[in-house]
Amino acid sequence: MYDLIRPLLFALDAETAHDLTLYACDVAQRSGLSRWIATPPADLPVRAFGIDFPNPVGLAAGLDKNGAHLDGLAALGFGFLEIGTVTPRPQPGNDTPRMFRLPGHEAVINRLGFNNGGIDALVRNVEKAAFRGVLGINIGKNKDTPNERAIDDYLLCLERAYPLASYVTVNISSPNTQGLRDLQEEDTLRRFIGTLREAQERLASRHGARKPMLLKIAPDLSGVELDAIADVLLASGIDGVICTNTTVDRDTVAGAPHAQEAGGLSGRPLFDKATGVLRAMKARVGDRLPIIGVGGIVDGDTAAEKLAAGAALVQVYSGLVFRGPKLVAEAVTEIRRRGLPA
Ligand code: FNR
Repeated sequence: MYDLIRPLLFALDAETAHDLTLYACDVAQRSGLSRWIATPPADLPVRAFGIDFPNPVGLAAGLDKNGAHLDGLAALGFGFLEIGTVTPRPQPGNDTPRMFRLPGHEAVINRLGFNNGGIDALVRNVEKAAFRGVLGINIGKNKDTPNERAIDDYLLCLERAYPLASYVTVNISSPNTQGLRDLQEEDTLRRFIGTLREAQERLASRHGARKPMLLKIAPDLSGVELDAIADVLLASGIDGVICTNTTVDRDTVAGAPHAQEAGGLSGRPLFDKATGVLRAMKARVGDRLPIIGVGGIVDGDTAAEKLAAGAALVQVYSGLVFRGPKLVAEAVTEIRRRGLPA
């Protein structure tokens, strides 16, 4: 089905196609037609950071920034949905065009810049949805909040997201908010995560439920930087780590149309780099910190390789643009065929 409509979508600007596809998912779900779009995958239960997932293939952050399409997306068979990145106040993001497809590479470059309706709108959307599956809420800071006060934005979002989320992801790895990735620096990160961890424990007592907190990191980190981050994360008692966000590196797509657009590159050309960071993180944290592997999953094999490299769960985004929702079932089927890691 998706193969038929893909040429039509690709004739449109990438962001228009994105909005139209989400709308179509909602309509399909409401009219009971989702099964025509995607055959739901078989169950493949996985337990990670205290949560039971029906299958290990989730939707990565950024596709449904406001949590406005939960029911439509859930009908596509994901084991979990991560919404956001959400910021305290609504913000428009960068000027358009700000999202580009590189079809020859099955890649996307985006510089959306956390366009979103703000945390209050996200909360209302989640409350309205019928979805009761595993929900990650990915939080960030407003563009005009300086890094010295970034923690206040994250604390506000954490507090508001906490009662609704199955887990919360702290995103400090988007390349499209100036200076954001500086929060990954060792001393800054130690203080930053320490404060968020204290808030997490307070919220756990207040709500009588402990919700896991994860950190999402960039793929553009050196071995030394990864060492430092792994140490901070292990000492902090955080629940997990997501490897990785998009890359600012263009080596893998040099010369392609749009390759020089500013922003983060995702999709197939990100696979090796993101999987390298995942493997390196796994070597450092072992079984003490579960990892979600994301970046460049475009078929069953690339999904299964993330688990072989040490991921407990995976997420997809760009692969959906090129392969459509059948990617979810393909990924689950191949992971199942190879067997979940012990
Ligand atoms: C993203 N990604 C992202 N990540 C995040 O933590 N917050 C966000 O708001 C966004 N926004 C976003 C928009 C667009 C258009 C894309 C393509 C990606 C990153 C995404 O979650 C994922 O980490 C990367 O895209 C790598 O995975 P794929 O796309 O290669 O499967």
